[in-house]
Amino acid sequence: MLALIAGTGFDRFLKPEEEKIVETPFGSRVIYKIQAQDQSFYYLPRHGLDHSVAPHLINYRANLWALKDLGVDKVLSLCAVGSLNKDFKPGNFVAVKDILDFTKGRTSTFYDGQDRDLKHLDVSNLYSKSMVQEIKNFFSQRPESFQEGIYVCTEGPRFETAAEIKFYQMIGGDLVGMTGSPEVFLARELSMNYASLALVTNFCTGVASDSIEFVSSFDQYQDLIESLLSYLSRKNIP
Ligand code: HPA
Repeated sequence: MLALIAGTGFDRFLKPEEEKIVETPFGSRVIYKIQAQDQSFYYLPRHGLDHSVAPHLINYRANLWALKDLGVDKVLSLCAVGSLNKDFKPGNFVAVKDILDFTKGRTSTFYDGQDRDLKHLDVSNLYSKSMVQEIKNFFSQRPESFQEGIYVCTEGPRFETAAEIKFYQMIGGDLVGMTGSPEVFLARELSMNYASLALVTNFCTGVASDSIEFVSSFDQYQDLIESLLSYLSRKNIP
């Protein structure tokens, strides 16, 4: 079963139908069901339906635990990102191929030796290659561009300074967002396949101009996202 975790912007047009309340050791979660082109999926708006939960306050452990509990084995994350790289322009879709984690105070594991045994996650294959390949196949039949890049996760909720952005460029980052960590690590700790598709909404501070300017409408991507969900759920992804 496929679940979609949708971030800023994408959560505006996905309309939940049914809801399930799932109890987890980290608190209860409401997980929704949505339909796209006759297929149904679990759906979790990362910042809440009213978009009120800041990136550093998201209960990531409860989110991922609840999805696992419902039998989810594949998670597609959708997120809005800033770009550090002039080749990745506002309006471009980019699959995340690796992550540089600059978050600070987030609990990033289920296995810290307290309630569960200590484990050290192997992060050599974080993002599902087979899911990314299917996303690539999907985009090959469409006019929108598709690229792959390295995601820098910041603590937020503030945006980055120009000096921070220069540093992230120097160490090889392409995109900046605030929610990729610990989401991907927790999904992998629970052995779920995870892929993250980012939409570039702006060039980061100081990249193209001194201020940040956002592309305005996400609604134009509704058909694309629904077709992608339906495409992925019809594929037999290992
Ligand atoms: N920085 C961090 N997160 C973001 C940005 C950004 O410029 N744009 C969208 N999410």
